[in-house]
Amino acid sequence: MSYYELRQAVREQLGQERRFEHVVRVARLAERLAMRHGQPAGKARLAGMLHDLARLFPADRLIAECEARCMAIDGFERRRPVVLHARLGAELARERFGVDDEAVLSAIRKHTLADAAMSPLDAIVYLADGLEPGRRFAERGELEALAFVDIDAAMIAVLTSTIAHQLARYETAPQTSAALAFYQRRSHERSLLSA
Ligand SMILES: [Fe+2]
Ligand SMILES: [Fe+2]
Repeated sequence: MSYYELRQAVREQLGQERRFEHVVRVARLAERLAMRHGQPAGKARLAGMLHDLARLFPADRLIAECEARCMAIDGFERRRPVVLHARLGAELARERFGVDDEAVLSAIRKHTLADAAMSPLDAIVYLADGLEPGRRFAERGELEALAFVDIDAAMIAVLTSTIAHQLARYETAPQTSAALAFYQRRSHERSLLSA
């Protein structure tokens, strides 16, 4: 399947232009970030294109489709089923698009809540989703620029503000707190090495 054909198939499956334009922007930003950081740009672009395949599913469908695939659902996911679109999306990428590259599937799976261990590609897709130019918040441009310079620093900044946001509205996802702890530990180790 060519990239053009992939785009068309994603456009049809999403069934909403606004969401399609978002995934195209995420794919572009992920590709540029990957090139800048010496990561596989084709994988970043593919994960970007396919990351939101289940984003428009209603809550009951998300739960039913995850249960049908025997996927474990934790308490946070039960209370906020929308977040399941990331893990279900990875399954749909595999089933509908034949993606079997674990690095791509992992980036799709972790794009919403992040996780206790993140690869550079996971982080690139996570950052591209949160910082693509269609997102409207004051620090977006600054954080996008930071992501081109230092992925870990950008992850710490984005995760910190995401957690503050989550706390103000409901509760923090354990995966997101674990991701922040992962980057903070790494940055601490890096500072010890350079001291
Ligand atoms: Fe998403
Ligand atoms: Fe997204």
